[in-house]
Amino acid sequence: MSTENMAGRLCLLLVCTVMQTSLGAVRLPSIFSDHMVLQTNSEYGARSFIFGFANPGEKVTVDAPRGPYYNLANSNGRWSIMLDPVGASMKTYNITVSGEEGQPIVIKDVMYGNVLLCSGQSNMVFTVGGMLNATAEIAAAHHPNIRLFKVALTESPTPKWDVNGTWQLCSPQTVASFSAVCYMTARFTMDMHWHDQPIGLIDSSWGGTPIQAWMTPEALKQCPQASKEGSIDVYNDVTGPGDPSVLWNAMINPLVGYSIRAALWYQGEANARDAVPQSTKSYTCYLTHLIQSWRDLWGIGDFAFLYVQLAPYGNGDTVSYVRQAELNVLSHAGGDVDTTGMAVIIDLGEADHRVHPRNKTEVGRRMALQLLHVALGLQQPEVNFSGPSLVKATAMSQNMVSVEMLFGDGMFWNGSHGCEQCCNGASPVQVSPDEVFAPNSTWYNTTATIKGSTLQVVVKGMAETLMPKSIRLDWASFPECVLFNEHWLPASPFIANISFKSVSPPLAVSPNLLETPPMGFNSWNYYHCNIDEQSVMRTADAFIANGMAKAGYKYINIDDCWMVERAPNGEIQPDPVRFPSGMKALADYVHSKGLKFGLYTAQAEFTCQGRPGAYNHETQDAATYCEWEIDYLKIDGCRGARHPNRSTSWQLFRKGFDDCYQKTGHFIVMSVESCGSMSDPCHWYTPQLANMWRTDGDVQATWASVMANLDKNNEMASIVSKGHYNDPDMLEVGDVGLTFTEQKSHFSMWSLVTAPLLAGNDIIHISKESLDILTAPEVLAVNQDPLAKQGIRVSPSNTTGGEVWARPLADGSMAVALLNRGDEPVTITVTWEELSLNPKTNVTIRDLWNRKDVGEAMTKFSMKVASHDVFLFKATPHT
Ligand code: GLA
Repeated sequence: MSTENMAGRLCLLLVCTVMQTSLGAVRLPSIFSDHMVLQTNSEYGARSFIFGFANPGEKVTVDAPRGPYYNLANSNGRWSIMLDPVGASMKTYNITVSGEEGQPIVIKDVMYGNVLLCSGQSNMVFTVGGMLNATAEIAAAHHPNIRLFKVALTESPTPKWDVNGTWQLCSPQTVASFSAVCYMTARFTMDMHWHDQPIGLIDSSWGGTPIQAWMTPEALKQCPQASKEGSIDVYNDVTGPGDPSVLWNAMINPLVGYSIRAALWYQGEANARDAVPQSTKSYTCYLTHLIQSWRDLWGIGDFAFLYVQLAPYGNGDTVSYVRQAELNVLSHAGGDVDTTGMAVIIDLGEADHRVHPRNKTEVGRRMALQLLHVALGLQQPEVNFSGPSLVKATAMSQNMVSVEMLFGDGMFWNGSHGCEQCCNGASPVQVSPDEVFAPNSTWYNTTATIKGSTLQVVVKGMAETLMPKSIRLDWASFPECVLFNEHWLPASPFIANISFKSVSPPLAVSPNLLETPPMGFNSWNYYHCNIDEQSVMRTADAFIANGMAKAGYKYINIDDCWMVERAPNGEIQPDPVRFPSGMKALADYVHSKGLKFGLYTAQAEFTCQGRPGAYNHETQDAATYCEWEIDYLKIDGCRGARHPNRSTSWQLFRKGFDDCYQKTGHFIVMSVESCGSMSDPCHWYTPQLANMWRTDGDVQATWASVMANLDKNNEMASIVSKGHYNDPDMLEVGDVGLTFTEQKSHFSMWSLVTAPLLAGNDIIHISKESLDILTAPEVLAVNQDPLAKQGIRVSPSNTTGGEVWARPLADGSMAVALLNRGDEPVTITVTWEELSLNPKTNVTIRDLWNRKDVGEAMTKFSMKVASHDVFLFKATPHT
């Protein structure tokens, strides 16, 4: 060795670092070294940077294609230079970096192409040498234009500025110990799209590490709840370093700014090991903020972030929670602007449930498809990148859920270990009536039938009183049966909420003969049990005489107490003292007046007044009522034994009435008690069976009771359709209790909310005042409007003041109620926004009680309303 060389070596080993620093020689992080690949920027506008160290204020020159470029080191001795765009090619370059003093650095054999940063834990570390068809892949790996940079393992409590590593040309010798997923993704992308464009692969991964180790402290702070719930301290026992941010500091931070085309991530197993339901939320937060912070710090826009969803491994369902988080982070499924992509590999597990399945070839192929879609913007069908992807799950009935899938063409089930085992065990689709992630959720198995791109899921064994709330697919660490589409790509496992289809189908057989809510009389509020046939006949007569029939009142309905026992053959018997002529004769009398006749029963053994109910006699009673030609039946709930499921009795009556209609053409209105909550499955099936259903308890002749029933009814507005109405209970107009103003308000609001109008007062001796309320023609016209759409509260609720309620009418106008619930007069304003009208629309205001136009308004309308009063008007917009 010459003296000069000796000195050079010595300098290198001992002194030169110090000397160079003091002399201000530039230095580069090791990622900028021979054989590197710089990100080509010709295609998508991002730029490449070279950065390093020098003396503060030192001028640095980079002699690179389209250069030279200059910059000064900042006060910390850091400098960065942005390079002009250079296209990807097989050309190689030397790049020289020099400072004001010292030796220039020459980086040799540099190529421009696409750079992928690969990170995560052991499934990313897993080498080409360990994968299934390693021998063939290794033998074929003569790709000098693919360059590999393996970041040496190191951790640090503080941010570092350099990593250990060198760029190597991809060859059978170098590829064997490189990350299989990283390499196979590149290899497939090269085959499918990039061809001979250079690819730089940086693998910075460490087995056994939790995601928190790869996150910046700032990103971790975004998930305080997640950190509390968990997991940071839990990872002291992991095989890799588990402390927060230590790998970010040492293995990612030094690379920040080295331009990349995409990041590839395969991690989560360390976070899944103790997975509990909260892990979904935690990992969703972690991954979201890891991605965001990496992008923010790189400063080259939303580069593609692609990850592998956890493979099938292990037992139980712990892995599922992290998989769901990975699905949550994938905010788009196939849109034009996707910036994240996820390779689903739920079919690639191995029989021994190992945590590192070896088929990394297919993992790489699916990641390449994601890369083509997300990073290069290719869409289907040019690149079929996605398996079936959940759009929404909708309950079509209490036990049937329709699951709509995107990319669901040609769906089929297949088991990863032989199709004969597939779907014989636990169902791949399960439905729960409980809250998602409730600790003791009961999941019911299903049969799931593929219909086009929809799964029709029938829930098995769930009680009729429960409503399906959540659905999950392949919720197991190692699912046996996987859903594919025609491109042999699998659907991600998922857990999702089920929404409800709220439009009720028409009644099974009988046509809809109740176009608008029924109007009539019911005996309960005034007569209670003191009803008899004379009172019924006189009420019918009064309807004709006092003009109520002409106004539209038709039904004369007898409530409880008309029946006393059953005959030996089971037939229901009317009270012989009160109804000596029998019900058929009474029905005939009412019909002879051109009116309709209704009766009452209860689905239980006894009515609320202890008379015989319909329990186990439904079919016989329906036939009896058909024979008597009654037009209306109220079915109460009430006392004693009853069917376990509330709807059984309703179904039997429904069937009986449908039979009646088919045989005789006679239609019987069915009114049931009760269904008053959108979280009760009755809200789905009741409108299919009945024409109306009580939404609340018995109304009383008090303001508070009337308002309470109105509010409860409002919650159910969405399930009303023509012929099927919410019933806030009978009218208290004309009964003792409400003031005249309150009676008018009660009637206004019942009209607005499509309520059945069943007078509950003494019709035979009705006062002029009550009659005027019950027959107010323009108020009745609102109730009977052919659109039959229930009015709703359109302003915020205000139980002690003014509220605005509105209902669209068939002629394009709206009925609006300004309701003052409070004890003082208030000015109530309705804005056109509340009525979904353009503010510039000119609207005619018509007072419906006084039957006169009161003016025109634009933007809004205000009126002073007395305590417990309603200003009810029709708003007719002029377009
Ligand atoms: C229940 C109903 C009322 C009435 C009575 C009769 O309380 O809700 O509408 O029918 O029973 O007993």
